[in-house]
Amino acid sequence: MTSTLTDAADLQLLGKEALLHEPPGGDPEKLTLVRAQGSLVWDDQGNEYLDCTAQAWSNNLGAGDPRVIEAAIAQTRELTHARPTFHTPALLELAALMVSIAPGQLNRVGFTLHGSMAVEMALKLALRNRPDAEHVAVLHDGYHGRSITTMAASWPHPQNAFGRLQPHFLRLPRPDLYRPRLGSTGEEDTERTLAVVRDILEKGTEGSVAALIYEPLQGNGGHNEFSPRWHQGIRELCDEFGMLLIIDEVQTGLGRTGKMWASEYYDLDPDILVFGKGVGGGFPLAGVLTKQEYAKFQAGDDQLTFGQFPISIAAGLAAVSAIIEDDLPARAAEHGHYATERLREMQTRHPLIGEVRSPGLMVSLELVRDHVTKEPATTEAHEVFVRAQRKGVIFGESRYASLGSLIKIKPPLDITRDQLSHALDVLDEVLTDVETDHGIGPR
Ligand SMILES: Cc1ncc(COP(=O)(O)O)c(C=O)c1O
Repeated sequence: MTSTLTDAADLQLLGKEALLHEPPGGDPEKLTLVRAQGSLVWDDQGNEYLDCTAQAWSNNLGAGDPRVIEAAIAQTRELTHARPTFHTPALLELAALMVSIAPGQLNRVGFTLHGSMAVEMALKLALRNRPDAEHVAVLHDGYHGRSITTMAASWPHPQNAFGRLQPHFLRLPRPDLYRPRLGSTGEEDTERTLAVVRDILEKGTEGSVAALIYEPLQGNGGHNEFSPRWHQGIRELCDEFGMLLIIDEVQTGLGRTGKMWASEYYDLDPDILVFGKGVGGGFPLAGVLTKQEYAKFQAGDDQLTFGQFPISIAAGLAAVSAIIEDDLPARAAEHGHYATERLREMQTRHPLIGEVRSPGLMVSLELVRDHVTKEPATTEAHEVFVRAQRKGVIFGESRYASLGSLIKIKPPLDITRDQLSHALDVLDEVLTDVETDHGIGPR
């Protein structure tokens, strides 16, 4: 009799052929994960890796936290699914908890399962509140998801095949602190870009704009931070032109930047805030926070069969409680400070490091071939990623066209100092190897 293990192995090989999202011929670097604990993951070959991606920056609380697992198991035993026309105790408790930690005056909350759907919820809410407005504005290089609508709200997809079915967003330019275009400094670029945005809002559109959505620190679009002046200028433009300000904190929320919300870190005053990723403690969960005055959904506006999935909600309640109890925002701030100090020291020795970006544990490096032209070092960045993974450390990388020059270091916020230090040691080694192979000399 053939063992179940052999059957499973055969099935897995067939599965690789069957999976819709697999690239032709497969991806040789793609691991099959079997277990995760804290910041560690193990593949099916028994290899251990230090995961500096927190699995798409979602495990703010490290994987397998017993408080989350127990809550999910307990909920599974009681009730796995409830139609969104019913409450569950955990739903009510999580709603109260989210409102209690919300920044500014956000005191109403809605849940769904994916960041993309939460962004759609925010867009629907904005349109309900601005029934006569014709547009929604987004920023260049923003990222808001992969539903048909949120793809349209994100940077132009390099091979977009879906335009026929996508709504049109008003795309506004953003300032670039690293590669200023409208001036010689980031400050000048910010001021002039604000002036261009004002011009577009005044003269460049037919009809008014319901909302502007942007990430307080652009994640997938290149880890682009903005200056305080930009945030302040945008809030003023929103007030002047009657636009709701939607801050997409799917990636930056729940402690990642060293504060519970990037909105606190940058002193923002959103009308609607979108959260996701870390809120579910590894289970799918996302949602929207807004002010009482904007809570205008009507029956049927936003109901999804699994939108308030009880197991995700129970896991989320445990995860958010644990993030508060363990003060993970403070841990992120401390670790982030340590990591950026070390990376800045490495930058003095490694010509490939163009810029070190933070805050908190939203850390990244942009690799460049030349410090004057700032030509993105995309091949080199991919090599750093591959070699580090072979040495047991998984860093984040971006595989999208023209954004592939980043190495991202965004582990669970409760990573230990030893683990973080080890990840940086490996990065240091691998950078040296890649620089040597490409004939890039020391500084
Ligand atoms: C800022 C931001 N918004 C929205 C999303 C979409 O979230 P999801 O992939 O859960 O749909 C992401 C995902 O990376 C994100 O980073």
